[in-house]
Amino acid sequence: MSEPISESKVTVGLGDRAYDIHVGEGMLRRAGELLKPYAKGPVPVVTDSHVADIHLPPLLEVLRRADIEARAIVMPPGEVSKSFAGLERLSGALLDMEIDRKGLVIALGGGMIGDLTGFAAGVLKRGVGFAQIPTTLLAQVDSSVGGKTAINASQGKNLIGLFHQPRIVIADTALLKTLPKRELMAGYAEVVKYGALGDAKFFEWLEVHGARALAGDEASMVQAVTHCCGMKADIVARDERESGDRALLNLGHTFGHALEAATGFSSRLIHGEGVAIGMALAFQLSVKLDLCPGQDAQRFTRHLKAVGLPAAITDIAGARPSAGELIRHMAHDKKVSDGRLTFILLRGLGQAFVTRDVPLEAVKSVLTD
Ligand SMILES: NC(=O)c1ccc[n+]([C@@H]2O[C@H](COP(=O)([O-])OP(=O)(O)OC[C@H]3O[C@@H](n4cnc5c(N)ncnc54)[C@H](O)[C@@H]3O)[C@@H](O)[C@H]2O)c1
Repeated sequence: MSEPISESKVTVGLGDRAYDIHVGEGMLRRAGELLKPYAKGPVPVVTDSHVADIHLPPLLEVLRRADIEARAIVMPPGEVSKSFAGLERLSGALLDMEIDRKGLVIALGGGMIGDLTGFAAGVLKRGVGFAQIPTTLLAQVDSSVGGKTAINASQGKNLIGLFHQPRIVIADTALLKTLPKRELMAGYAEVVKYGALGDAKFFEWLEVHGARALAGDEASMVQAVTHCCGMKADIVARDERESGDRALLNLGHTFGHALEAATGFSSRLIHGEGVAIGMALAFQLSVKLDLCPGQDAQRFTRHLKAVGLPAAITDIAGARPSAGELIRHMAHDKKVSDGRLTFILLRGLGQAFVTRDVPLEAVKSVLTD
């Protein structure tokens, strides 16, 4: 990792669809100037009511000063809005605004708002440009970058979606100060994921600076977000549609989604917490299969615990889900192809790989350990 920085720019190299991610503390103040080149006609700002209460007024003020005619659309918070009903409501509001086909829609919020708005922008008038202003740590390091957009169906999460890359991403780390601690921690699981999957040096940096970033040290947070965005940008530029390397970003997700499903997608376990436990289980499975040194798995789990993230199934409150139940959920996950489970396993810290060659007995055994 380089010297501390307070502001940075990462480019997602996708040819004529390339775009920049601007990261920095107070970056929202520059939103008018950064968004002006893309704004045409009325510019909808889509957000949820939690974020609207805190961060919408300053954004609207900055846009007004840049002569951008912004109009807010406020959705109910939570996954309930990432649905057919939410999409209908949002696209109706966007069409009522007579948004220009060459115009811009702004998503101000966490992954829920980013996914829903990106999807609506992608299908509206066969594709309208959109900008991401992510307000959660998860969204800043993961969901706002890479163009995956979706809504949920009753059959499962994110099953209806498309790839639609944003025109620009503005990640202001100061916005994270108002995020509930639990949401911040859950986003940090995605930060650790980058170290675990592909960069042992970054993991080492996090062991020293991660807790500091979480405690509010801006330079450390800007550096962590920039590094994660840089890694994601590289992966997306190589494999936009997830036919290869991009699947590495699913580290911890096969287990994590099953745990989320088994706990009813409730406040017992939020997404990032599921990913944290899922990654610890992926390390354990890798050790069990003699792929990864035990000390790397222990070091990984130690860091999760040190920052206060859950690292084992027993860290989830309430009754423990059974191995059978978890495996059934995994089989329903969309990371199944030809009836075989896909896992991201590790040869060590920073060395993840994709495999479909995992004995079910070994999976069962880490789920009951
Ligand atoms: N597109 C992708 O590549 C991708 C990747 C990972 C996750 N996701 C999706 O992202 C979603 C989860 O995103 P999330 O964790 O950001 O959840 P979220 O968007 O639901 O936000 C979590 C909560 O924090 C509140 N909030 C957001 N920013 C805040 C702020 N700055 N201050 C105070 N409160 C704030 C929200 O109102 C909400 O209540 C899921 O739907 C998941 O499927 C998408």
